[in-house]
Amino acid sequence: MPGKRLASATAGYILSVAALWLNATAVQSSPPGEALYLDHCAACHQPDGKGVRGFFPPLAGNPRVTADDPAKVQDYLRRIIFGYHGGLIVDNQVYSGRMPPIGYVGRINDSELLDLINYQRTAWGNDARPVTFAELAEARSAGRP
Ligand code: HEC
Repeated sequence: MPGKRLASATAGYILSVAALWLNATAVQSSPPGEALYLDHCAACHQPDGKGVRGFFPPLAGNPRVTADDPAKVQDYLRRIIFGYHGGLIVDNQVYSGRMPPIGYVGRINDSELLDLINYQRTAWGNDARPVTFAELAEARSAGRP
């Protein structure tokens, strides 16, 4: 019966619009990138971004994370994408651990990665400009730091 099929298609359409709307409100309630950060980074850098002194460097208040200068932003992006173990000093504390490459977290697309990065740059009192897709692409093509 075409009429019945039409009615159920309409009901299906209304349901999916409602689902999209619910989804959109859920996303608004927490900043984009926050869930990804909690899943993939917080085990080491901690949910509050403060890290663990001597083991995992803080991302909150870390001038490399909030860099504005394009060259410094490139260094920061490459550390996230390719991993890093060159040793660091943050807030007068030495770190000589191993930052896993982003590949370690499995499939994460560039738009999610950008959300995650921009979350770190604006969470916990950080107040940096957003990183762009073009900057992320440049860091990817530049390779390991
Ligand atoms: C297994 C623990 C671990 C996980 C998970 C981890 N990191 Fe790291 N991260 C480190 C360590 C250790 C260092 C310091 C490396 C060193 O001392 O050379 C570091 C360094 C960094 C740096 C460089 C900081 C600076 O001052 O230059 C950034 C940025 C960073 N991590 C971001 C992230 C992001 C984003 C994620 C999630 C996608 C993440 N990390 C997941 C352990 C981790």
